[in-house]
Order: sequence, then C-alpha cells, then structure tokens
Amino acid sequence: MSDLENALRASIRTIKDYPKPGILFRDITTLLGEPRAFRRSVDELVHPYSGLRVSKIAGIEARGFILGGAMAHQLSAGFVPIRKKGKLPHHTVRVAYSLEYGVDEMEMHTDAVAEGESVILVDDLIATGGTAEGAVKLLRQMGANIVAACFVIDLPDLGGRKKLEDLGVQVRTLVSYEGH
Ligand code: PRP
Ligand code: MG
Repeated sequence: MSDLENALRASIRTIKDYPKPGILFRDITTLLGEPRAFRRSVDELVHPYSGLRVSKIAGIEARGFILGGAMAHQLSAGFVPIRKKGKLPHHTVRVAYSLEYGVDEMEMHTDAVAEGESVILVDDLIATGGTAEGAVKLLRQMGANIVAACFVIDLPDLGGRKKLEDLGVQVRTLVSYEGH
C-alpha cells in the first residue's frame, strides 16, 4: 500500500453498524477536517488532469460537492451539482438509480453541461456503482465527454468500479477497502 493510501486511510473513520447492523460505514468527515489530508486528497484526485482542458467537475450530492468544489477551483473548471430529485430549481434531466436497498432519482440542470464538454465526475465513495452510473447517464444524455470518475474510497468487492469501466469510464480512486 502506498504512503499516500496509508496516510489517507488513517484519516478516514470507520463506524461499525451504521446506518444498519453489519455495515462498516467509511466516514470521510474526519479526512475533510484534517487540512493536510483534505488537500492531499484533492491534489491526488486532480493530478492526472491538471494539464488537460477539463471544462466542468460534476459532483454528486452531498459529499461529492465538497470534493468537487475544491477540484473545480484547482483545475479552474466550472462546477455542476447532481442532486437528489426536487432540489434543482430550473429545467432538469432526471434518472432513476439503484441503491443497496431500493431506488431513488437524481437530477441535473439541462443547461449545466453543453454537448461535447469535458467533465470529471466525483463522489466520496463508490460501492455498487449505482449512484455513479446514474450520474454517468445524466451527463451522457446531455452530450458530455466524461474524462474520468473520481472517488476517494473504493469498495471493490461491490463491483462499482468495474461497472463504470464497463461503461467506458476511466475510474480513479485513492483508498481501497477489500472485504469492505
Ligand atoms: C453513498 C456515497 C455514494 C453512494 C455510493 O451515498 O456517498 O454517493 O452511497 O453507493 P453506490 O456505489 O452503491 O451507489 P448515500 O446514498 O449514502 O447518500 P448521501 O451521499 O446523500 O449520504
Ligand atoms: Mg453519496
């Protein structure tokens, strides 16, 4: 495991049996609260893309907003919020996505991304990939060119990374928890 992964892992809190028994919740609020860990995470997420022309960062509500805002600033890109349904005030595209238990819907403004724009998608964590897959559908529906999808945490056993790669999306993650 790399020094970076060790350092970030040390700043992520694990909470047993949250939100339900048997789940190990990987909490990044502790990482966000540590100045060095937050900066290193954002630096590492944007690192491969700093020379490229990335037009927008699309962040998934809610923790993807925190990382995505910082990434957008660093890359001098715009920020696009992808939100749970009913939260965005203007015309939207909407998609249903699957969660571990059930389904939900998310939305993006129709004018948030133009045809052919280069976009990086970001969220705190990828597990089954249902959430990120929904976001990919929204972005592609509006004609975005998805440069990559970035996450601080990967739970590889749940298959989300592979799901996105099978959709032709390049995935970048910083910390991986096998056996989650
Ligand atoms: C968590 C996490 C990701 C998503 C990943 O969000 O922040 O967005 O689950 O799971 P998946 O890869 O299986 O789709 P959650 O749905 O708990 O909502 P929140 O971010 O609003 O708290
Ligand atoms: Mg989430």
